[in-house]
Amino acid sequence: MNIGPETAQDTQAIAALILAAFHNHPHQDPAKGTTEHRIVQGLRDAGALSLSLVAQDGEDIVGHIAFSPVDLETASVSPGTWLVMAPVSVAPARQGQGIGSRLIRQGLEQLKALDVEGVVVLGEPDYYTRFGFHHQHQLSVPGLPAGYFMAQRLDGEAPIYLQATVNFHPAFDV
Ligand SMILES: CC(C)(COP(=O)(O)OP(=O)(O)OC[C@H]1O[C@@H](n2cnc3c(N)ncnc32)[C@H](O)[C@@H]1OP(=O)(O)O)[C@@H](O)C(=O)NCCC(=O)NCCS
Repeated sequence: MNIGPETAQDTQAIAALILAAFHNHPHQDPAKGTTEHRIVQGLRDAGALSLSLVAQDGEDIVGHIAFSPVDLETASVSPGTWLVMAPVSVAPARQGQGIGSRLIRQGLEQLKALDVEGVVVLGEPDYYTRFGFHHQHQLSVPGLPAGYFMAQRLDGEAPIYLQATVNFHPAFDV
């Protein structure tokens, strides 16, 4: 299996993969259905996909991860570049085989080389704490439960100097 950046030919397969991965997701608003594939397309259209990696097995795209910039509203010193890691998608038949973990680790590793200061994520703490994310009470997202919000600095320092409200790209508003 190969992990690499998305190409223009991958767009439809990525959307289909995300739809399948998030079908009937427990955290989904039933009135809206799956929106994650539209978020990714919105980010792509806006030029806001900072990093979009696909996991490819032969001809099949079996995993995908997206990172996009967040805006930090803060009165403290000007922060560097922060991104949100979302969504992460693995084909239902291929979940639990380490593909998600590889996408996350490889994505974070690549971002270190891009001078990204930190990454935030929303999701299950049991899963994301494995990759260096931890609850970070100085950072908050309006209207979202703090228990599912985690962050990490990629330079290994705790983000203690930041007291900020985190705003995602408008593509997440779908
Ligand atoms: C979440 C997801 C990306 C993980 O990818 P994956 O390739 O299945 O995961 P991995 O094989 O790397 O890791 C499997 C481990 O993660 C755990 N895990 C997977 N999803 C989890 C979740 N939602 N909560 C807690 N643990 C989870 C598994 O229990 C397993 O644990 P183990 O190593 O102790 O056995 C994938 O299951 C998926 O696409 N799910 C549907 C979409 C989704 O919920 N995306 C995340 C929100 S953005």
